[in-house]
Amino acid sequence: MNLPSTLSSFVLDRFGINLNPEKTEAVLSFLKETKGLSEDNLIAAINADSVLLYDLINKIVVPETYFFRNLEHLLILIDILTKEFTGRKSLMFLSAGCSTGEEAYTLAILLKEKFPHLYENSMIYGIDLNPKSIEKAKHGVYTKSSIRNDMMGVGNRHIKRLSPYEYRLSDEIRGKVVFKQGNLLDYDYCCWTKQYDIILCRNVFIYFDTDHILKALKRFYDIMHENSYLFVGHSEMINQISTEFQPLLLRNSFVFQKAVEKSPVSENDLIIENKPPKKTDKRTEMPKSKKLTAVAIEENEMRLEKIREKISEELYGDAKEMVHKYLEDYPTSLHASILSATLLLFDQKHDEALELIDSIVKVPETKYYIFFLKGILFSETGDFSMSIKFFKLALVENPTCLISNFFLGFINEEKRYYRISLKYYTETIRNKNLFIKDSVQKIMPHLSGKQLRDLAQKKYTALKIKEAAL
Ligand SMILES: C[S@@+](CC[C@H](N)C(=O)[O-])C[C@H]1O[C@@H](n2cnc3c(N)ncnc32)[C@H](O)[C@@H]1O
Repeated sequence: MNLPSTLSSFVLDRFGINLNPEKTEAVLSFLKETKGLSEDNLIAAINADSVLLYDLINKIVVPETYFFRNLEHLLILIDILTKEFTGRKSLMFLSAGCSTGEEAYTLAILLKEKFPHLYENSMIYGIDLNPKSIEKAKHGVYTKSSIRNDMMGVGNRHIKRLSPYEYRLSDEIRGKVVFKQGNLLDYDYCCWTKQYDIILCRNVFIYFDTDHILKALKRFYDIMHENSYLFVGHSEMINQISTEFQPLLLRNSFVFQKAVEKSPVSENDLIIENKPPKKTDKRTEMPKSKKLTAVAIEENEMRLEKIREKISEELYGDAKEMVHKYLEDYPTSLHASILSATLLLFDQKHDEALELIDSIVKVPETKYYIFFLKGILFSETGDFSMSIKFFKLALVENPTCLISNFFLGFINEEKRYYRISLKYYTETIRNKNLFIKDSVQKIMPHLSGKQLRDLAQKKYTALKIKEAAL
């Protein structure tokens, strides 16, 4: 018997989790050395003893989570709740793979703060495979790492500091969420309701193989309301493997809507930046002939991420080579094209950069990048009116875009339009999120949110002094 492969098959079949060989070895030695299991009856012993099974689960899952994770998703959720569910008095939410509860409680805080009329009657559920995480979720006491993110200015009202290391959630918010241990591959977890309106299942499928993602999606499909939304992690592009959910591009992120014959979402109702890319769009991350597996998608994401890292380390030669190779494999990749254009821009090859940017097919996802790249490009070539035009367009796509607000302040200051400049600096300073999209931050590391805001503050103060002196 090949024990590592028996163990990894067991874990995959039962929980959907794809263990790599190193992790399998680590889990095996934990079971043998710490738990004293013998090789012969290892799987039988785990099957017979729920405590052992839970120990195994605790060893294999990745519980990483924190409050207000992925602010962009939360802004999208706010948009959806505002525009799509206006007539509803109650909604059903599920945090699937909720870990220690931060995601589900974030939902409760958001509802309480922004949608008090929904908060009263809505139900929020959290489910996770790991009983230890569920216990912690119910307890509602956290360390600093759970509140590492900006909380949209509302989280602190509900999370109080107990000691230098501990934070406690208010009893009210704690009482709003129902947690349960359960497996997303089983049907029994959905016994609460079959009418979820919003399911968050983020950063769970990255550990699954394709077959088990499909299985879990099938469960979701069955328990979701007709007009309902599914949020998955950024790299978990489920539309490559499932047709049961339709991707919608909102605020530069994909969310998924349960596919029904006639889509209940009208484009005019929602702030859909545009329709999801059609089959005819030229630039996507994959050749159309071939569906990519989740693993391949993840690998591509990692390749792009490595290129961004090289850029952020100013290793432009390496980055160019890697982009070149990526574009050889995926000549129509929009992300690689954008990175390539950025590198040309760094090289002062403005004409080539502009040509490449213009050649990028205008799929909605690229709009925001294209606009602010063009804004930067024209400001570098001294064409300020074009630069202003594109930064303003970027602001239409993403009104909180720090970079565009800052540059608009800066250009207007250069042009001595001080009042307008003050307006944009004020917007930059006011933006408490300091949130520059990760990918933007990586390719433009000198444009950190904090630096921009501090700089805007200095410039604002200097302009105010100048104004007073006049
Ligand atoms: C990285 S955490 C993500 C937590 C949270 N969704 C977030 O994005 O912050 C992944 C969680 O998925 C849970 N999980 C993994 N496989 C699962 C399964 N088959 N059923 C239920 N939960 C599962 C793990 O226990 C872990 O807590």
